[in-house]
Amino acid sequence: MGRPAMRLRWGWVVAGWWVWLRLCGLVVAAADGGGAEREGETLREAVRGRFLIGAAVSARRLNDPGLAELVAREFDSVTPENELKPASVRPGPGQFRFEAADRIVDFAATHGIKVVGHTLCWHSQAPRWLFVGEDGAPLPREKALKNLKEHIDGVMGHYRGKVVGWDVVNEALSDRPGEYLRQTPARRAIGDDYIVKAFEFAQAADPDAELYYNDYGIEGPEKLQKAIRLVRELKAAGVRLDAVGIQGHFVVRDEEGPERLERAIGAFQAEGVKVAVSELDVDVLPRRTRGADVAARERGGLDPYREGLPAEVAEAQARYYERVMRAVLAHPGAVCRVTFWGTHDGTSWLNSWPAGRRTNHPLLFDRDLKPKPAYRAVLGVLEGR
Ligand code: XIL
Repeated sequence: MGRPAMRLRWGWVVAGWWVWLRLCGLVVAAADGGGAEREGETLREAVRGRFLIGAAVSARRLNDPGLAELVAREFDSVTPENELKPASVRPGPGQFRFEAADRIVDFAATHGIKVVGHTLCWHSQAPRWLFVGEDGAPLPREKALKNLKEHIDGVMGHYRGKVVGWDVVNEALSDRPGEYLRQTPARRAIGDDYIVKAFEFAQAADPDAELYYNDYGIEGPEKLQKAIRLVRELKAAGVRLDAVGIQGHFVVRDEEGPERLERAIGAFQAEGVKVAVSELDVDVLPRRTRGADVAARERGGLDPYREGLPAEVAEAQARYYERVMRAVLAHPGAVCRVTFWGTHDGTSWLNSWPAGRRTNHPLLFDRDLKPKPAYRAVLGVLEGR
């Protein structure tokens, strides 16, 4: 009779100790799936205010308590991955839809996390009617400018005081050698100064928000020259540009990425603008496409790591991330933010780009939300190891 009662009491004593030790932070191993096996600092602690450290998040995925806990624990900033793109916020002319992005902004406010707005003007994920008429022709310049201004006023106005800065224009530079600007619906309708205009509208819509130009591949020598030309043109036009976002979609096989990044950070610093590494990930799968053109599509993409990432590839990726972080720290004060494009590997856009459904492993946490060697590498560099 006495024995089961004893066992029950002992059970409570052990459980009580467990909770107490966990609250004291003495037990950090977690069998609960959502918790990380770690001791000591988180990324947001280790960064020590040198720059913001963030992740792209989606409103839907923040419903997952494990993912939400990971974001609140590790990051001090978030970028809505799709929720602020024109296609998401503009169901039609004169209409705005903010529910999904609002949920992210509320989550961020609850956890003392800053929000970065992505993006106000982009040729992709934007409704046609912004810059194209019903007849398929570009809208007249004045009408297109009116639409651009209405869009920027509406979105930035809604988030005034809640979003620290905006990718005002995304991916305006051409990938073609010798060609400066990409041909886009906004450029066809407005002309080359659509970029300057977007910055003017943004500056007026929220004078306290930071303004960024964001693009992929601009750490590469040719596109870097175009980006520097744009920085100078924006300056000459008298508009404010707080930072250039180097997206940072790297491929583990592309050895030169971190050196190119370091050179580009130095070059932008010399131009007097800060750099945000704004969409960092390190692709481990084979692909032919360079850069991050969302329109690129590869057929029959190989999918070798469906069962998990082999230890040697995870190590190679960790060394890559280490080199990227060393590049970030190489020019003190030059980088204002590092944002990973997703939270754990299961959330990455690289599971479906540039080739259909695959199992990619580009981020710091695996699908069980456990930190990978890449996480420890990034933390190590931030801690000066
Ligand atoms: C991607 C998102 O991650 C995907 O969910 C979406 O389907 C397509 O866009 N450069 C950018 C980002 O500026 O907006 C893109 O995000 C990735 C490339």
